[in-house]
Order: sequence, then C-alpha cells, then structure tokens
Amino acid sequence: MTARILDGKAISERLTIEVRRAVDARCAAGKAAPGLAVVLVGEHAASQIYVRNKRRMTEAAGMRSFAVDLAADATEEALLRTIDRLNGDASVHGILVQLPLPKQIRSERVIEGIDWRKDVDGFHPYNVGRLVLKLPTLRPCTPYGCMRLLAETGEDLVGKHAVVIGQSNIVGRPMALELLMARCTVTICHSATRDLPGIVRRADIVVAAVGKANFVQGDWIAEGAIVIDVGINRNADGSLSGDVDFASARERAGWITPVPGGVGPMTIATLLANTLRAAELQDAQPRGSP
Ligand code: GUN
Repeated sequence: MTARILDGKAISERLTIEVRRAVDARCAAGKAAPGLAVVLVGEHAASQIYVRNKRRMTEAAGMRSFAVDLAADATEEALLRTIDRLNGDASVHGILVQLPLPKQIRSERVIEGIDWRKDVDGFHPYNVGRLVLKLPTLRPCTPYGCMRLLAETGEDLVGKHAVVIGQSNIVGRPMALELLMARCTVTICHSATRDLPGIVRRADIVVAAVGKANFVQGDWIAEGAIVIDVGINRNADGSLSGDVDFASARERAGWITPVPGGVGPMTIATLLANTLRAAELQDAQPRGSP
C-alpha cells in the first residue's frame, strides 16, 4: 500500500480562510479585531522562524499582531511584568509565549501568569484541567491541529488503537487526551517504554512527537495505519525531516503527513482559531468578571 498524503498546507489554508471570514464578520458587526501578542525571549533559531510565521499569519487572518521581543538575558520578573501588561490590555485577546524559554526563566511561572482567557496555547493549568475534564476549553494548538488532520481522513476513530510517542506538555499529553476524547484506546510511549516497535505495530493511529529525525521506522507501521508526524528536525544540509522515516512508512501506512507541509501549518491555523475563540470568550466574560 502507498499511503495517501494528509496535506496540512491545503487543510490549514482552508481553516485560515474560515477564521478570516469570521474575523471579517466580527469586525463588520462593530467588534474589535482579535489581537494576538506573540512573545519571544532571546534568539533561539527555530523559535525565531516559528514566531515570524505566527505573526505573519495573524495579520493574514485580519487580526492585530503585537510583537513583543525580550533579550536573551531578560529576567523572569521582567517577563511576568510584560505578561501582566498584556493581560490588562483589552486589545490583546491572546498571549503566546514561545517555548523554550532561557534557563533563568521558569516556564511554569510564566504560563500561570497568563490570564487563562487569553491562553491561546491552552497550557495554563486551568485550561489543561478543563481538557482533562472534557470541558470546552482553549485546546493546545498542535494536538488540536492533529485532530483536524485525523478528521480529514474521514475514518471513524472510535475504538481505534492510537499510539502517541512522546509525553511532552505541548504535544504528547494533550494529544493523548484529545484521542481519548475521540474514544480511541490510547497508549502513551516515552523513553522508558519497552518494545516500542512492537507497540507501534499494533497501532491504527501513530502520533510521533519525539524530536529525533527518522526515528520511527517503516517496518514498525501496521498496514493501513494513519501516521501523524509532529517532528520538525533540521538536517545538516538545511533540509527538514520528521520523526518518521517517511519513505519507508508511506509504503505501509494508509495515510501519512509529510514534513514540511503536514502538522506544522496546522499548528498556526489552530492558533488563529483559538485567538478568535479567545476574543469571543472575552466578549462574553471580560477580565474582572466573576
Ligand atoms: N514551542 C514549540 N511549540 C510551541 C507551541 O505550540 N507553543 C509555544 N508557546 N511554544 C512552542
């Protein structure tokens, strides 16, 4: 079998157009354009590229983009003060602090400092708790984007065995909760997992979020499985590879996401959808209300 490609670029463009239409309708009704502040601390090379793309797409969706750049040696207090200012700014509906942060800053303190209504990453403990409890919430962007990709296959997810490789707060854990909510049977694998290839071979859905180029081998993939590759790894020649060995995996999978052009663009499109949702949430429940 040669897998069908899940084209994240095309699907994300459709989602972005949907968001743009809703933003235009909102503005035509006299409401403020949603505003997204993307905060970058330091000069992490990959983060600079991600942040630039997020800011560019925010404007392309008709939203206001607020760029906040702090020096690599910024203190935790300075970042918390910046977040407090953004929390209190009514034209900012979403706040995203790009991770990883420099060593002197505790990311959990920063995430807890963001008003949960503006937490478009869905990383605040309040929003994570709501996700665990199956309550409506701002959903972490990458797992939310992966669920949109899975929906595009048209396959019924109920009862499928989903294997998530990776247990990070950004992808692995919320991804497992999303799949559980879709009524999959979920296995979470990590660096201490025994017989990873054997577990992956029993998966109907594989989500790879390990951060190691070409880690998942084609002969681990069951015939017809859906393979979602979250990895974006830069090779020595400057090209990008996912966490899955694409050439061998596509010979066995039923569906597979490419890298680039799979999960990456979906993460930005779902960020825009979350920013719109955050603006709507704040219309209904402004800061300071009970
Ligand atoms: N770094 C890598 N992925 C993400 C993400 O989804 N959000 C933030 N804030 N930082 C990231």
